[in-house]
Amino acid sequence: MRHFDFVVIGSGIAGLSFALEAAAHGRVAVVCKAALPETNTMYAQGGIAAVLSSIDSFEQHVQDTLTAGAGLCDEAAVRFMVERAPKSIKWLQKQGVLFDEGRQASIALGLEGGHSQHRIVHVKDHTGLSVQQALGQAARQHKNIIVLEHHMGLELLLQHNTCHGVQLLHLKTGKATAILAKAVVLATGGSGQVYQHTTNPPIATGDGLAMAYRAGARISNMEFFQFHPTALYNPASEDTFLISEALRGAGAELVLPDGNSFMHRYHPQGSLAPRDVVARAVYHEMQQHNSPNLYLDARHLQEGHLQQHFPLIYSKCKSIGIDAAAELIPVVPAAHYQCGGVCTDLHGQTSVPGLYAVGEVACTGVHGANRLASNSLLEGLVFGKAAAAHAVAGQRVKYKSTESMEVPFVPSITVAPPLPAVQSIKTELRQLMWEKVGITRTCEHLWQARQQVEELRQNLESITATRPTPEVWELRNLLTVAAITVEACLGRKQSVGGHYLEHELALP
Ligand code: FAD
Ligand code: SIN
Repeated sequence: MRHFDFVVIGSGIAGLSFALEAAAHGRVAVVCKAALPETNTMYAQGGIAAVLSSIDSFEQHVQDTLTAGAGLCDEAAVRFMVERAPKSIKWLQKQGVLFDEGRQASIALGLEGGHSQHRIVHVKDHTGLSVQQALGQAARQHKNIIVLEHHMGLELLLQHNTCHGVQLLHLKTGKATAILAKAVVLATGGSGQVYQHTTNPPIATGDGLAMAYRAGARISNMEFFQFHPTALYNPASEDTFLISEALRGAGAELVLPDGNSFMHRYHPQGSLAPRDVVARAVYHEMQQHNSPNLYLDARHLQEGHLQQHFPLIYSKCKSIGIDAAAELIPVVPAAHYQCGGVCTDLHGQTSVPGLYAVGEVACTGVHGANRLASNSLLEGLVFGKAAAAHAVAGQRVKYKSTESMEVPFVPSITVAPPLPAVQSIKTELRQLMWEKVGITRTCEHLWQARQQVEELRQNLESITATRPTPEVWELRNLLTVAAITVEACLGRKQSVGGHYLEHELALP
């Protein structure tokens, strides 16, 4: 068993922001179940929202966030985040992120859905990769930070309802270990893998949420899963590639199979309406036209412009035979972002003493019923740093008492290839979540989903109780996320934001 001052589970923007701040004051272990860069953060495209222009204001960013959140944001948390954004962007620059520049060497600001001003700081269309690389390198070089890659967090270690550490499995060797720390930080990202179609990478299996749930932490807003309207439609591939909203910010229009635009029928902001509105409109029009996809028209942009500002998207489209400067890009909605999560205060503290949650796994209250575009990286950054400041200030007391702590029993897990039966439970779960707990919902579907998730859970237990593998552990976590999400949906009787009950509101 090893002791650190802080253990951070997750190596995305939230975990690394915490780690780099806390490392000035103590020893930090950063644990991640894959290689360090393999995070949601790495795939982020559009950018980070921050008020940096003289014609913008904190008040406008706050109001845009509250409007997107459909009245369910915590305004104090929104203000806290928005006001810390400009300084946090400077901090990222100090860590080595080179944001695109506009006129007179000022940072270039893009536009995305729901924003009343240009305020998206970006690095072309691969902002997340640049942030991940800079923070990852800074963490690896820091003498007070140890990075433990391919270590999967299984369970939080509790004594007298206080969190003291985490039980880990080394995924390459199969060896179980534990880390005890004065503060334990969940920065495990979201749970997009619970849905059949998602922009999220395979690591996004809701492990942190499930661990926190088992530890008794308060969880909220899980009915508000956000669907992104424009993932690339590519039936030849299982991977879902995002077509950034920033392309719509640069003037691209959503169009029907006949080439006509339609978003103005749904919202005055058209293709740049809040994301929940656009995703539902796309889904609805796909059904109306009996079409597997709609299209994004970016043909007004020259090839040179696309190559310079959207190189990743342009080359991805090219790789599947689409010239985005000359042809329509086929798009479909996909599950994208978990707006709910483990409840925290402004310092990242959860309801379990000793346990912090930051980034997508957390529910700070800033997103309400629907997250405003590019507020997620910002949330991870701002609250990661705020939680570190708090944990540093309050760290000394617990350490001695944990030294003698007993580690609770966790079943031994075999690192072995997944059983086909396990794989088929996972496929079924993801399909059922997509079909019954997806972009639009009905009470009947939600009731069915509740029963089916429970049946799948029982199936999984019956075939794997004696032989859990890491994949089984992840699937258990996904089933927990699914069950919590379905209950949250059933508890929310009216449509709001990302939670849309079909019978409530008739689309035009
Ligand atoms: P992540 O970056 O997801 O990191 C999670 C970490 O936790 C990983 O290191 C993972 O290995 C680790 N982990 C998980 N479970 C375990 C476990 N059991 N044990 C050990 N480690 C574990 N947001 C924006 O604001 N702007 C954008 O432009 C934007 N674009 C996006 C584009 C795409 C394609 C996607 C998928 C998301 C995008 N988002 C964007 C959302 C944003 O990227 C994420 O919300 C954000 O990066 C989450 O950061 P995080 O630090 O909370 O978690
Ligand atoms: C995008 O680039 O469209 C994603 C932005 C986000 O998720 O905030």
